[in-house]
Order: sequence, then C-alpha cells, then structure tokens
Amino acid sequence: MGTSNHTRLIVTKGDITEQEVDAIVNAANSSLLGGGGVDGAIHRKGGKAVLEECRRLRAGHLGGGLPVGHAVATTAGALPARWVIHTVGPVYSTTEDRGARLASCYTESLRLAYDLGASSVAFPAISTGVYRWPLDDAARIAAEAIHTAEARVPEIRLVLFDDTALAAFQRVFDPS
Ligand code: APR
Repeated sequence: MGTSNHTRLIVTKGDITEQEVDAIVNAANSSLLGGGGVDGAIHRKGGKAVLEECRRLRAGHLGGGLPVGHAVATTAGALPARWVIHTVGPVYSTTEDRGARLASCYTESLRLAYDLGASSVAFPAISTGVYRWPLDDAARIAAEAIHTAEARVPEIRLVLFDDTALAAFQRVFDPS
C-alpha cells in the first residue's frame, strides 16, 4: 500500500537496528544521550560515533535538549543505515496537543529524511514502549501523519518489534 504513486509503504516485523535503509528513526528522549528500548539498541549497535554527535548537538544549538515532536539527524555509526533521525515522542496522554506531537514526530522525521536525500526511511512505533501510547491509537496517528506528510520519501517502512504491534499497525495500514 503506498501513500502516493511515489511512495512504497511497508509494514513489517523486525528490529529497527537491522534495517538496510538510508535512515532509521530513533524513539529518543530530549536529552539525546541514550536510554532503553529502541534508543538503547541504536546506541549500542551504532557505537560511540552516534553518541559523540548527539553530545556535539547538545553542546551546540540543542543545549536545552530536543523538544518533543522535533527531529534531528546524526551519523548511524556502525549501523547499516546512513543516518539516525532522532525524534522525541510524547508520553501518552489523550490531550489533542500530545497526539499532534506524536504526528509531528513522523512528519518532521520525513521532512528531514527528504532534506537529507534519503530514499528509504524506517520508523519504530514511536511512544508505544516506555512512553505507554496504546498501539492502536499510535498506529492511527502514524498512518494519518504519513499520509498527509508533504515530504515524499520513496520508501517508508514501519518496523514493529512483536506480533501484537505488527497486528495493530497492519489493521490500520493494510485493513484488507
Ligand atoms: N526495533 C524495533 N522496535 C523496537 C525495538 C527494536 N530494536 N526495541 C523496542 N522496540 C519497540 C517497543 O516494543 C515499542 O513498541 O519500539 C516501540 C517504542 O518503544 P521505546 O523504545 O520504549 O520508545 P518510546 O515509547 O518512544 O519511549 C522513549 O524510552 O528508553 C527510552 O530514551 C528513550 O526515554 C526514551 C523513551
């Protein structure tokens, strides 16, 4: 299923750190200095080059941290991808504002991927782990954001870590 004639959209089970795409998206926190879940796995496998670039960003224009819903790119270090796009999802809340910020994680990451010249980008299910966003609602927000995004990257992958997350995203993205 594609978002347009120009985008191939793939919903798959897997590990984001193993994706052979131009850019993988990290479900980071504002500090950009690592954490658990996707963030921990990306920093572990990406190696110190990723952390060093994050530290440089924090020492520069991101001194106050990366705001929720924003995105920034670094090298992917030892990972198969060329870039890691770090974005900060919101902690779960039903307020409209938080949903808009989760949508913004997808649209801002896609805009950045497009600006970098990436032809493929892989997303995890942002905010659905430590930040407790329910999978069905997170999948709905992700789909709406991706479908309405102006930046057209030729291939977008949604990479889900287990069967429950895969089923939730498939219900929304491939509802046949
Ligand atoms: N590949 C793909 N998906 C993964 C992987 C992986 N290697 N590891 C975990 N996941 C899944 C989780 O099962 C969950 O569905 O990614 C989703 C997002 O979970 P988290 O990584 O916990 O991200 P999030 O909910 O956005 O919380 C961000 O967690 O450790 C931190 O530093 C991070 O503070 C930030 C917070």
